[in-house]
Amino acid sequence: MTDSTKPKFDKVIIHYFSGTGNAKSVAHWIGDIATDMDMKVQIVNVGRDEKANEKDIIENTLFGFCYPTHGFNAPPIVLKYLWKLSRSKNNNEFFVVNTRAGMKISKVFIPGLSGLALLLPAIMLWVKDFTLIGYRSIDLPSNWISLHPGLKEKVINSIFKRCKRITVGFSSKILSGKPVYTGFWWLPIDLALVPISIGYYFYGRFVLSKTYIATNDCNECGLCVNSCPVTAISMKDGKPIWSYKCESCMQCLNNCPTRAIETPHGFIALIWWISFSLLPIVLIILIPQIIDFKGLTSKITYDILLLILSISIIFGSYRIMHKLMKFSIFNKIIKTTSLTSYKFWRRYKAPKKVD
Ligand SMILES: Cc1cc2nc3c(=O)[nH]c(=O)nc-3n(C[C@H](O)[C@H](O)[C@H](O)COP(=O)(O)O)c2cc1C
Repeated sequence: MTDSTKPKFDKVIIHYFSGTGNAKSVAHWIGDIATDMDMKVQIVNVGRDEKANEKDIIENTLFGFCYPTHGFNAPPIVLKYLWKLSRSKNNNEFFVVNTRAGMKISKVFIPGLSGLALLLPAIMLWVKDFTLIGYRSIDLPSNWISLHPGLKEKVINSIFKRCKRITVGFSSKILSGKPVYTGFWWLPIDLALVPISIGYYFYGRFVLSKTYIATNDCNECGLCVNSCPVTAISMKDGKPIWSYKCESCMQCLNNCPTRAIETPHGFIALIWWISFSLLPIVLIILIPQIIDFKGLTSKITYDILLLILSISIIFGSYRIMHKLMKFSIFNKIIKTTSLTSYKFWRRYKAPKKVD
């Protein structure tokens, strides 16, 4: 072992949360390098409600956190975990790694965007007296198949190979005590994205949690319910239903053995058209006939009513859609208008083994 690969720490505790396996792979790659360097390694799955206890923390323990980026932020479950984490008694060093939506077009690797995903957890840990030693993003394949078709296997493997190489380089450095702050190069872009990160955290994620539906292809195997890392799925009327706890991690959609879980694009487009195009026109026509307000008062009344009604329609329609799925004609319409139901719309799977 050369000096540059000598471990600075006796133990590393790597916490991870992962929807489709990317962040989990990174956690294990780092763990493998630490094992090779004769360090003690503990891997904690935050999504399974595991947590490191006081007795797990020996002197000279390095803390690591690996998780995906959701809406330009760290997933809420990770933020909650960090919020509850006890202060560091020995100013333990820590690293944060967010996996992002990497793509590859022709031979060019395209990175994702972090927003607050690294910054906020790093600040939270710093406030709790931890010391930053590693701060970087890893651009593993995008798993957001509600938005785009799953990447081709060849592209996934190529992105994975590159990211493993990057992660190995990163871990060798931080485990031997050399700081890596590559993620800070992105700071200007990350800060510009903060308003979207906040909007996603307080609104967007709740809207997304109501955009999953199981069609008649569901055989009630319960895999989605049992494997959901945030226990957001339950069975209702023999079909899975998603609660607001859902973090849109994509595990259920990508793993369903009968491909029964869909993002109902057609239905969402209809509901959004009603909320944001039809409803404003209807209100403009109706309000003067119902309430005799003038000027600013009428504008404020209109805006408040529009907001309340559009939110009610967006969230209320989910329950109605779930009920209507009992009828095979509705099932067929939902399926035909869901892009995710088509063969070309692949699912995303993180490869189990990468050379
Ligand atoms: C709901 C959702 C939101 C996402 N938001 C972002 C984002 O803001 N920036 C980004 O680079 N990637 C984003 N992604 C992509 C994932 O962060 C990325 O594919 C990650 O590697 C997945 O990790 P996992 O397999 O451990 O869950 C998003 C994915 C989902 C499902």
